[in-house]
Amino acid sequence: MTVLEVLQATAAYLQKHDIENPRLNAEHLLAHTLGRKRIELYLQFERELTETELGPLRELVKRRGEGEPLQHLLGTVEFCGLTFLSDRRAMVPRPETEQLVELVQSAIRDPRSAILDVGTGSGVIALSLAAKFPEAKIMAIDVSDDALALAQENAVRLDLSSRVRFLKSRLLENVEGAFDLIVANLPYISTQDRHNLSREVLHDPEIALFAGERGDELVRELIDEAPTRLRPGGMLALEIGLGQSEALLSALAEKNYRDICSKNDYNGVKRFLFARYG
Ligand SMILES: C[S@@+](CC[C@H](N)C(=O)[O-])C[C@H]1O[C@@H](n2cnc3c(N)ncnc32)[C@H](O)[C@@H]1O
Repeated sequence: MTVLEVLQATAAYLQKHDIENPRLNAEHLLAHTLGRKRIELYLQFERELTETELGPLRELVKRRGEGEPLQHLLGTVEFCGLTFLSDRRAMVPRPETEQLVELVQSAIRDPRSAILDVGTGSGVIALSLAAKFPEAKIMAIDVSDDALALAQENAVRLDLSSRVRFLKSRLLENVEGAFDLIVANLPYISTQDRHNLSREVLHDPEIALFAGERGDELVRELIDEAPTRLRPGGMLALEIGLGQSEALLSALAEKNYRDICSKNDYNGVKRFLFARYG
């Protein structure tokens, strides 16, 4: 079979297995198998593929059809222009979180800010900010050893390990010092919503998804704790779940934060909250 025929057959297989963007998935998987860039496939449409090339592809396509995330099969994910390792140890970073990083970037006043990323997962927020702000002092925390190990591997690969301090901590329990910015994409799914999640999402670690019966429990705890670690006028930036904004905006007001606002993601969902303290 030629490259083009394989792409068409793979896309049809993935479509039959209810995979979104089947052609794009097919291109990524074939490019990965051949060790090429996706764009290079377009120059080779007529090339015949050998059995040695097709064998590994079949295995990946089967796993993708069973709902394994594309990022796990490729082993990497693009986030804010950087390439991060992605596997079962931490949540696959989402496009909304790229938007959180962009919003945070434009809100940072001092390039030498002290920044804390709570629930760092694969490290995408902390490391993207470290790359953008070479003078910033950045700490990244997570309660999961697996996530911290992956985040540290990412820091080494991106040559940013001297820039970010990683620490195991349940929320701010083991954190010392004061920060100009605390940013967090904590778990915000209600345990009751488990049955609504896609096959792909269920490959993320449980600890990265679920916060409790309401879903916003951990974000609320952080809203309570953050003032103890924010410098005067410091900012809290949060990614939150669908339908959680109203109650959390009230929680911020009750705790005497100021300049409180929400921002929509590209789907029009109130996904991000920003507030300053002191
Ligand atoms: C939704 S994932 C986000 C990961 C990463 N920040 C991102 O945006 O891709 C939430 C992360 O919070 C961590 N986490 C869960 N409970 C926590 C807690 N109580 N304290 C600190 N981190 C926690 C999980 O291990 C997970 O890595």
